Order: sequence, then structure tokens, then C-alpha cells
Amino acid sequence: MVAIATETSVTFGHGCQGRGVGTDVEHSVTSRPIRPDDADRLLRLLHRMSPDTVYRRFFSPVVRPSPAVLARLATVDHGDREALVALVDDEIIAVARYDRLPDDPTRAEMAVVVEDAWQHDGVGRWLVQRLGELAASRCVEAFTATVLTDNDAIIGLIRSMSRRARFTTVSGESDVVMPLVRATA
Ligand SMILES: CC(C)(COP(=O)(O)OP(=O)(O)OC[C@H]1O[C@@H](n2cnc3c(N)ncnc32)[C@H](O)[C@@H]1OP(=O)(O)O)[C@@H](O)C(=O)NCCC(=O)NCCS
Repeated sequence: MVAIATETSVTFGHGCQGRGVGTDVEHSVTSRPIRPDDADRLLRLLHRMSPDTVYRRFFSPVVRPSPAVLARLATVDHGDREALVALVDDEIIAVARYDRLPDDPTRAEMAVVVEDAWQHDGVGRWLVQRLGELAASRCVEAFTATVLTDNDAIIGLIRSMSRRARFTTVSGESDVVMPLVRATA
């Protein structure tokens, strides 16, 4: 079994003016499992997101989550429910999470969001990759996800990570099954 570091930092080139334009500035981005005291950071992240990003993540305009909802998002058991956050200067810029399916413990529903200003810098793929390694080490064999069919970013991210990912599309939404590979020592 491979030990997966709980906290790690990576340097990302962060384009100030969007993908491929302007000068990239290097930032150290740290990822770690979410903690209950992240609830306020999650709320600040939500307030920095564009309506489009909120809608693509939550499928609804979640503007004012209750303290109970925030607490549930920030509190996981690091087994059947996990969330990794990416931080810059102690603020959360991205979250990737999974919830194991009650009726099929070999699968887990995955969701990810990256703050608008940090999209297209590689943060999303980095977090989902780490989350997938963690999940596979806990006997999750595949991530499932439901995505809007016009969400080129998440579809591109999943395809770039797994050629075995399968998409089933029904009326504007695609159900995805993305097999995970368990790391070997
Ligand atoms: C989807 C999302 C998480 C991607 O995060 P990101 O950090 O921007 O993605 P990355 O920079 O890591 O990109 C990884 C790969 O995904 C693909 N990708 C990313 N954005 C893309 C886009 N707009 N169009 C097509 N492919 C895209 C590419 O293959 C990319 O690899 P490349 O940069 O080598 O071309 C981010 O756009 C987001 O938060 N969107 C709103 C919320 C959402 O849609 N969540 C998914 C629902 S679960």
C-alpha cells in the first residue's frame, strides 16, 4: 500500500490575464484534507465565485448556504467522505470531494470546483488526481459524476485524466464513470 502525503505544496504558474495571455507568476499552492474550521474559508470562496462557476458546481445558484450546510461540507470522515482543499495564502482556491455511494461502496460521487481566477492553471487536475489516489487507496474503484453536457472544462479534465472514462448523456446532463487506478509500491 502506498502512503499518500496528507499535505503537499506545488508551484503553479498563474496567468494574471487568462490562459496563454500575459505573464505567469509562480505561486505555491498547498493541498490538504478539509477541516471543520474551513467553513468560513468555504463561504469566502463561494462569494468569490462567478454565478456560472457556482451553477456548474452545484446545479443551482447557491448564494447563501446555511451554517449547517457549510459545516457539513467542511466536516468529513476521511474514509467514506473526503475533501481536499487547495490553498494560497491560507485562503481556499479549490475543493475536490468524494462521497462513497451507499449502494455501491466501490464507487464514489466526485465533485470539484476551482475559483475563477485560478481556472486553467492545472489546479483542478492536480486536486482530482490526488483525490483519486486517496480514494483508490480506500478501495474506491471508480468516481462517478454528473456534469452539464456543455461543461467542456470538466469533460476535458476527466478525458485528460482517464481514457477509460465513460459518459452517458440524457437531456443536458452527462453521467460519468471514471475508473481509478490503485497505486502500487
Ligand atoms: C472544471 C474545473 C474544476 C477545471 O479546473 P481547472 O483547474 O480549470 O482545470 P485544469 O487547469 O487542471 O485543466 C486540466 C485539463 O482539463 C481540460 N480543461 C480545462 N479547462 C478546459 C476548458 N475550458 N475546455 C476544455 N478542456 C478544459 C484540459 O484537458 C486541461 O488540460 P490542459 O490544460 O493540459 O489542456 C473548473 O473549470 C471549475 O471549477 N469549473 C466550475 C465548476 C465545475 O464545473 N465543476 C465540475 C462539476 S463536478
